[in-house]
Amino acid sequence: MIPEELKTGHPDIDAQHARIMEQLALLKSVAGTEGVPEVGAVLEFIEFLRVHFAEHFVCEESLMRDADYPGWNEHSDIHRRFFDDFVFSRSCIAKYGATPERLSSFMRMAENWLADHVLGHDLEFARFLRGEPPSVSLRPLSEPRPLV
Ligand SMILES: [Fe+2]
Ligand SMILES: [Fe+2]
Repeated sequence: MIPEELKTGHPDIDAQHARIMEQLALLKSVAGTEGVPEVGAVLEFIEFLRVHFAEHFVCEESLMRDADYPGWNEHSDIHRRFFDDFVFSRSCIAKYGATPERLSSFMRMAENWLADHVLGHDLEFARFLRGEPPSVSLRPLSEPRPLV
């Protein structure tokens, strides 16, 4: 379930955001259990998230290109930077263990990024799709790197 203020109104984007948020909530419940959770189980949750983030970014970026969205380069670049941070955090958990501190920092990073990104960028794109004027100025950047 997506908070009302994070709904873009686009059925695919909202459904993908909802799946990612549900998985983050599940991971949070695993992280909130007593003791250090089993690293293999945590990495399975994180892998699910990684795949869904990657698929979501591909879908959103393809919608942006199809719609000739002027902010797609900048938006895609933001996706790439988050994805790099996500993969780095995952490798730290895989290498050094799923301690409560490391998991809560991972959760904070992913949850805060998602909410800020949807509010600041995805909703802007949704406004564009509805033919509404932008609320921020968009500047083109160079071609984004492809997702690995
Ligand atoms: Fe996005
Ligand atoms: Fe998104």
